[in-house]
Amino acid sequence: MCGIVGFTSIQKQAAPILLDGLSKLEYRGYDSAGIAVRDGEKETEIVKAKGKLSELSQKTDEGRAVRGTCGIGHTRWATHGEPSETNAHPHSSDDGEVVGVHNGIIENYKEITERLIRHGYSFKTQTDTEVAIKLVDYYLKKYGSPAEAITRAMLRIRGSYALALMFKSCPGEIWAARKDSPLIIGVSGQDSFIASDVPAILKYTRTVYYIDNLEFAKLTPGNVTFYNIEGEEIEKESVTIEWDTEAAEKGGFEHFMLKEIHEQPTAVRDTLNSVIKDNRIDLSAAGIDDELLKEISRISIVACGSAWHVGVAAQYVIEDLARVPVRVELASEFRYRDPILEEKELVIIISQSGETADSLAALREAKGRGIRTLGIVNVVGSSIAREADNVLYTLAGPEIAVATTKAYSAQLAASYALAVALGRARGLIDDEKYAALIQDMLSIPEKIEKILSDKERIQWFASKFAGARDVFFIGRGIDYAICLEGSLKMKEISYIHSEAYAAGELKHGTISLIEDGILVIGVLTQQGLYEKTVSNLVEVKSRGAYLMGLTTYGHYAIEDTVDFNIYVPKIDEHFAASLAVVPLQLMGYYISIARGLDVDKPRNLAKSVTVE
Ligand code: AGP
Repeated sequence: MCGIVGFTSIQKQAAPILLDGLSKLEYRGYDSAGIAVRDGEKETEIVKAKGKLSELSQKTDEGRAVRGTCGIGHTRWATHGEPSETNAHPHSSDDGEVVGVHNGIIENYKEITERLIRHGYSFKTQTDTEVAIKLVDYYLKKYGSPAEAITRAMLRIRGSYALALMFKSCPGEIWAARKDSPLIIGVSGQDSFIASDVPAILKYTRTVYYIDNLEFAKLTPGNVTFYNIEGEEIEKESVTIEWDTEAAEKGGFEHFMLKEIHEQPTAVRDTLNSVIKDNRIDLSAAGIDDELLKEISRISIVACGSAWHVGVAAQYVIEDLARVPVRVELASEFRYRDPILEEKELVIIISQSGETADSLAALREAKGRGIRTLGIVNVVGSSIAREADNVLYTLAGPEIAVATTKAYSAQLAASYALAVALGRARGLIDDEKYAALIQDMLSIPEKIEKILSDKERIQWFASKFAGARDVFFIGRGIDYAICLEGSLKMKEISYIHSEAYAAGELKHGTISLIEDGILVIGVLTQQGLYEKTVSNLVEVKSRGAYLMGLTTYGHYAIEDTVDFNIYVPKIDEHFAASLAVVPLQLMGYYISIARGLDVDKPRNLAKSVTVE
């Protein structure tokens, strides 16, 4: 996510304080940064730099070279437009009347852009932020006041935003507006602060105000006024922050991994909203249309680790919905085995970082043979994103914990959209099924939230197995794909040996490892395979295994077989992985914690494996 800071004072220089605040938001991940500072009535000075905050600090002599007591600053995590100095915030209207920074995703920025172009506006950047700033400017010129301009813009914009704005006609003032992306305000003496998150201002004040959705505020030195969407002044209660800085960076969660598990509903929602418009799937942002979808003869999904697990799940979904043959390949194998590829094949590279060496090499292998490539990537402007013929971005935001959770879930969501669009383009999904599939996809975030509300039960069960030596995950079909991810989570953060097995395969040898008390987790979300997997659970139970069942509400008979069960909400079975994976992520997380391990930075692991 991007980071926003703002500061206005009677006499203190703003730039050094802005840079200090941005440095406290670096943990959020970013690719460029910038500040805009105004010295009284003088023109606003804007300084931006691609790369690390140190670049910006160097350009401004740690802020000392930028005069003025009122300013805003921003660290950018690119979602629309490459990481670059041009695309970095702050952005301004062409006449400098409005200057601003933004955190969030403007879903209808294209239609707003077209409307502003009709009114004579032009655009220098590829960002949705410039559109938002110029929309405010458009309304300011039409209605005259910042409050009216902000209100109108808030009513026009669809999506999420935290905006911090400065107006030429209002020296010393900072205006802020919010929908879904957090914004907090602090006042200390003659100084007023705004920030995306608490760490940026904790050094100056622990008394903060939270702007709620569709509210906006005006900051002057030492004072803040809040307004509702109607432009009426409202009173806000202040909150005292008890957290220390480290806790604040994690949003009050104990670890980044737990925070990111809880960010999954938003990551999935943002990713789906980027490809579902008015209940129709639109992959045009990835350069994909029905003609392309119709001509694909076969798909190879190539990835590593959890991204490869997404591919295993996606294979079942795509083949079932679109009847296109799908092969799932480990990138480290694909790149060396002289793969046989068809002329009309699509090679899909799934990668959170977009920099995984094996996946990048696989992409280049396919491209070298003239095969079309699609990247499903989380980092805008990463190598895989730049080199793939088409790129479908996941909008999970920066993922700090080494063990992926929200990026994995966002990748699943992107793969569902692709599968449904493929099936629809090939005439295999009628209107009724199309609407139902989209409805179920859009229900994923709220169903994840329901699972998270029950996490204490999972925590209790996990703590009973902190001393486990081996854990087995078994399932069939998509349930097997879920097991793969659950097992990897267990291994990489709790260091307990674990195996994921296709339930029907266990008896071909590995069942000899089952002994008294060994935990076997059965995943049973696929109705047609439910009884088969139950019989496999009975097989291992008769050999002493301790059974946990993970199935959907309604399958209460599972309690006759297993020793502990977890239910997840019902959903179209194609999308079950998005729900069933959450309890397994939590299992791994709580066992790791119970074992006193560094869950965010597990031993031997890197967030992005950029070497072979
Ligand atoms: C998953 O928790 C691991 N961090 C790892 O398996 C990861 O999924 C894999 O290295 C692929 O990374 P990528 O998605 O950035 O390409």
